[in-house]
Amino acid sequence: MEKAWWKESVVYQIYPRSFNDSNGDGVGDIKGITEKMDYLKELGVDVIWLSPVYKSPNDDNGYDISDYQAIMDEFGTMDDWDEMLKEIHDRGMKLIMDLVVNHSSDEHKWFIESRKSKDNPYRDYYIWRPGKNGQEPNNWTSFFSGSAWQYDEATNEYYLHLFSKKQPDLNWENPKLRKEVYDMITWWLDRGVDGLRMDVINLISKADGLPSVPGGKRYDWGGEFFMNGPRVHEYLQEMNREVLSKYDIMTVGECPGASTEDAAKYANLEGTELNMIFTFEHMDLDSGPGGKWDLKPWKLNDLKEVMTKWQKDLEGKGWNSLYLNNHDQPRMVSRFGNDKEYRVESAKMLGTFLHMMQGTPYIYQGEELGMTNVRFESLEDYNDIEIHNMYREKVIEGGQDHNKVMEAIYIKGRDNARTPMQWDDSENAGFTTGSPWLKVNPNYKEINAKNELDNPQSIFHYYQKLIQLRKANDIIVYGTYDLILEEHEQIYAYTRTLDDQTLLVVCNFTVEDADFELPAHIHFKSNQLLIRNYDVQNSEDISSMVLKPYEARVYLLK
Ligand code: NOJ
Repeated sequence: MEKAWWKESVVYQIYPRSFNDSNGDGVGDIKGITEKMDYLKELGVDVIWLSPVYKSPNDDNGYDISDYQAIMDEFGTMDDWDEMLKEIHDRGMKLIMDLVVNHSSDEHKWFIESRKSKDNPYRDYYIWRPGKNGQEPNNWTSFFSGSAWQYDEATNEYYLHLFSKKQPDLNWENPKLRKEVYDMITWWLDRGVDGLRMDVINLISKADGLPSVPGGKRYDWGGEFFMNGPRVHEYLQEMNREVLSKYDIMTVGECPGASTEDAAKYANLEGTELNMIFTFEHMDLDSGPGGKWDLKPWKLNDLKEVMTKWQKDLEGKGWNSLYLNNHDQPRMVSRFGNDKEYRVESAKMLGTFLHMMQGTPYIYQGEELGMTNVRFESLEDYNDIEIHNMYREKVIEGGQDHNKVMEAIYIKGRDNARTPMQWDDSENAGFTTGSPWLKVNPNYKEINAKNELDNPQSIFHYYQKLIQLRKANDIIVYGTYDLILEEHEQIYAYTRTLDDQTLLVVCNFTVEDADFELPAHIHFKSNQLLIRNYDVQNSEDISSMVLKPYEARVYLLK
């Protein structure tokens, strides 16, 4: 397999608003990130992915960009950004920026022009349509509840917004728009950026004619008409030809609704599009037919099926990205582990489970501390537009039960991931000297970076080791994945194989002891215990073991 630095890297995602506030205004900022550079270096990550820091009215916390080539005032200045990049590069790390070009803010100058008149030169930078029979042009709904169309009086037409109404979709059919986007990307890459994380990039091409979902509902989920649309590969190949291929960078596309067949195109090994994509399939395992807020318990065997499908289907065809949480998802230890008595063990187990698979691992800020979900009593303590729109639709307009909807927010809400980073046990967890834009999780006195750094057995130090192991063992990066003990109801176990070596990864996903029997087809002369989250001896017989709650072990077999 061809080697590449972005396959060997571990990425750390920063959500700037919640990372570290250097000036006491309650909002994290770029200088705050620079202050923590040694912390990131100590953890050992190679690449930092920065969620958007561009100018934005913050309807969706920076994912609504009003100027792609300027920094948001709350976050600092372009000089601060240059200094941060230098500090990253001085430490041998790299920076990837978020690229949000499925939509802009409605306060972007393109949109301000576009809405003025039908013959404005910027009109076709966005997707405008007349209404149909006094209603929206079609029945698609937005990711953030309600119609995906907004009526605009000035020209008596509607514009498409797959997210909030302050996030109008850009019209990729327009070559002028595409050229502007490529020029903007070039401008950032020339400033020294090492790669891009592309926001919902598989939504940029919409089905011809923007058809309604059949069935006659006024509002329906139109995903099939805008996810992985007809021209998306053409656009990405063009972007790759015009810009990406000219730089030694890494690219990862966020792709809701992409199958492994789609992924094999987006992340093809010839490198004509992107290096890898984020799948959502494992993130959907605890959603019922009603979508994200329709709660359903996830099952270990479903997780095995989905992860294994992505590992095997991309084998020899593409490259995986590996993640269990980010700024849009609940905290992984609360979702897939145990955030109570086995918080530490299960956080380490989940890290092991993920980092030993084939692909590039992503750590979301605070994951290395075992940060957990939060439960705020009052809806007012939540900030996220997705939460507030959903609540309005379901409870205020739809009459659903307040408590039931709050429960869904506690389990699935994006603000679970966005509470401020917990640095120490001082007021506001050391995140700010002011009043934080979103409340700190009350468990910060126990869960914080200072405690983690002081304790050699901490999750932080365990992650450090996971990262070091990746550097020392090619098999962790390049080995072939195979699931074993497929039917086991407690254990997720798999092997990686490279030349004459086998890596054996065994994870107990439950709170009970679990029996492990080594399958007969795995042969070896010697075994070495590379990492473990309980005290076990290397000499232990591995043909049959009893794993403690959330125990994880990785053996190198030769
Ligand atoms: C995905 C981003 O990760 C999310 O935070 C955002 O709300 C939407 N895309 C829209 O940009």
